[in-house]
Amino acid sequence: MLSGLVEALAGDGGRLSLLSRHASQHPGGIDCDYHDAAAFSRALEVAVERNGPIDLAIAWFHTLRIAAPRLLAEQVRGRMFQVLGSATADPAHPQRLATAAAVAEGLQGCQLRQVVLGFQVTGDGSRWLTNEEISGGVLDAVRTDRPLTIIGQVEPWAARP
Ligand SMILES: NC(=O)c1ccc[n+]([C@@H]2O[C@H](COP(=O)([O-])OP(=O)(O)OC[C@H]3O[C@@H](n4cnc5c(N)ncnc54)[C@H](OP(=O)(O)O)[C@@H]3O)[C@@H](O)[C@H]2O)c1
Repeated sequence: MLSGLVEALAGDGGRLSLLSRHASQHPGGIDCDYHDAAAFSRALEVAVERNGPIDLAIAWFHTLRIAAPRLLAEQVRGRMFQVLGSATADPAHPQRLATAAAVAEGLQGCQLRQVVLGFQVTGDGSRWLTNEEISGGVLDAVRTDRPLTIIGQVEPWAARP
């Protein structure tokens, strides 16, 4: 869902590292499973060896109840954009954004930004975001540098697909 964002950032001329389980088929790709903390740490070390300190991180983790988000935050020397699912904005759980932000707590080098994936209300109901909307929305968040970006909408919560 973030491949369009990666292409846009690559077009900016920056040096990119892509970390996922099947990333090595792409330039800058480093294979690792973020559930494996040791493997994820090694992958971050490789990224820093290749490209230097991480001054911009875009992070999607399916869960934050693993070590990887904190391990990444510890390596960032600049901004880290945390991409979060719609459930983070569920009004029944108002503490979720703050809980997610705790991955960067106490880290001077990491400036955390949050991007929540919402939904789109249409004439006849609502739908989830397309990959293009997600990549475009995260790119906009990076370029405008807001602390919190909602792509699409999360209110009214009852209108979600
Ligand atoms: N709100 C909305 O409108 C909206 C729309 C679309 C998606 N979403 C949400 O966004 C999420 C992401 O969607 P997706 O289908 O692209 O899901 P995904 O399976 O989480 O994959 C996203 C990326 O994470 C990597 N990845 C997944 N598991 C990994 C692991 N254990 N270790 C390292 N990398 C891993 C994948 O690459 P590899 O497979 O190479 O590891 C892929 O590049 C979903 O939870 C979906 O519900 C929301």
